[in-house]
Formats: sequence, C-alpha cells, structure tokens
Amino acid sequence: MEYNNLIVSKSDKICTITINREAKLNALNRETLKELSNAIQDSFNDIEVMGIIITGAGEKAFVAGADITEFNNLSIEKGMALAKNGQDIFSFIEKGPKPVIAAINGYALGGGCELAMACHLRVASTNAVFGQPEVKLGLIPGYGGTQRLTQLIGKGKAAELMMTAETITAEEALSLGLVNYVVPLESLSEKTEDLLKKIISKAPTAITEIIRCVNSFYDHSCNGYDAEVSNFGNCFGTEDFKEGTAAFLEKRKPVFPGN
Ligand code: COA
Repeated sequence: MEYNNLIVSKSDKICTITINREAKLNALNRETLKELSNAIQDSFNDIEVMGIIITGAGEKAFVAGADITEFNNLSIEKGMALAKNGQDIFSFIEKGPKPVIAAINGYALGGGCELAMACHLRVASTNAVFGQPEVKLGLIPGYGGTQRLTQLIGKGKAAELMMTAETITAEEALSLGLVNYVVPLESLSEKTEDLLKKIISKAPTAITEIIRCVNSFYDHSCNGYDAEVSNFGNCFGTEDFKEGTAAFLEKRKPVFPGN
C-alpha cells in the first residue's frame, strides 16, 4: 500500500513502520493517524509478519505529538471525537495479536509518548525526550496518556509529569520504567530488532495470550475492586476455606484439598 506519511518495510518477519513527517517532527495529523491505523491492521493480517516496530523518521523526533495545527477552533464534540479516534487506534495496537515495539529516536511528546506507551515494549535512544506537555496548551493527554502513563510509572510520577508538563530524558524514563532499554541512537534499530526477534522466536499463540493477559490486568470492564469483592465472596464457597478456618479453630495445621 502507498502512504503519504509512512514508510513501511518488511524483512525477517518484522514490519517496520516509520512515521515520516520529519519536517514537522513526525507530528500525528489526521492523515498520518489513519495511515498508521491501516498499516498496523495490514501487518496484523499479514501472515508473513510476526512482529512490528514503530519509529520516527530522522534523528530528532519519534513523534512530537498530535498535530497542533489541527486543534484550531475545534468544538467540544469535535475534540471528543479526536480523542476517541486516537484512543481507538492506540488501543487497537495495544490489543493486537502481535508484539509491537516502539523504537524511540528523539522527542516523544504528547501523542508521541502516548503512541510509544500503546506499544508493548519501548526501546529509546539516549537523545530521546519524553513528556506530556498538553497542559501548556490548556489540554490534557487525549490518546490514552492519562491511563497508560499512570499504569507504567505509577500515580505520583504520572501526575507530576502531566501536571508540570516537564520533559524527562531517556535515562530518567528508564529509571521510571517508562522504557525497557536505552541505547545510543546508532544501535537503536539493532537493539529493537534483536529484542523483537527474541520474542517472535517463541510460540506466537503464547505471545498473543501474554498480550491479552497483560492487557486484562488493566481492563476496566472488570474493575479490580469489584473483582476483589466477588472473588472474596467466592472463597467462602471453597473446601480450602472450610479447612483453613476449621484448622485455625482446632489449633492444627491445615491440609488444603485445593478446591
Ligand atoms: N504539531 C504540529 N507541528 C509541530 C509539532 C506538533 N505537535 N511539533 C513540532 N511541530 C513543527 C513546528 O511547528 C515546526 O514547523 P515549522 O518548521 O513549519 O515552523 C517543526 O515541527 C519543527 O519544530 P520546531 O518547534 O521548530 O523545533 P524545535 O527543535 O525548536 O522544538 C519541540 C522541538 C519538540 C520542543 C517543539 O517543536 C514543540 O514543543 N512541539 C510541540 C510539542 C507538544 O506540545 N506536543 C503535544 C501536542 S498535544
């Protein structure tokens, strides 16, 4: 397929998608997002592709955010639609059947950081810069960033980054768990490919299940507190529970039947 804003290449069962708007620091305009969505869908469907790498063109930016020029004069409804569209595409990446790694080669700001976080793993070059600077524009992250940043680095640091709009270096991102590895820019593709090759040499069905299970940890159709209530209740129906409490009351060691 032909793209205006992407370069898509395939080799060794890996599809590399490069966001290619270097003059605009690879900012995600509508067309680029749509193309990204199509390219991801194609590689999920392509039986010759077992893993995907997303990166940015040039040596300065992975993606410097959603394209701010398209924010002008948006109504509340259009703003919501913009966020929903971005969220759907990023969730599609996150929930896909094949491993996706972000190779972060520079600025990963706003929607760029959000795109990287929607990927399953992240490898950054030493010059990478991360941040959610939306509050500077009177906005908040809209492509899943408030959720995924909190999941990846925890509530306190996520709130700090989103509320201060401050950027962090690749090394800081590594220490926060935002990225898996930091390597010099010249080794970025090699490191990312090696990591992906390690993954795609394993059972593909099992990899898909890992993706599914890791995602289900954060599945809010299944609220963790609600799950706790119902599973706590279920325990009362087990033989293990009966044995455990009986043993305590009888001052002996329990012998759990396992059902
Ligand atoms: N949307 C649209 N255009 C963007 C962009 C974005 N998110 N980020 C960068 N660009 C454009 C610039 O407008 C500029 O275009 P021009 O040459 O036509 O004027 C070009 O990319 C190069 O960026 P520039 O700002 O000149 O580079 P810099 O090295 O001085 O600064 C950044 C780099 C990343 C610090 C700066 O571009 C920036 O702050 N970008 C916006 C980041 C952001 O707020 N992202 C979140 C959006 S929700």
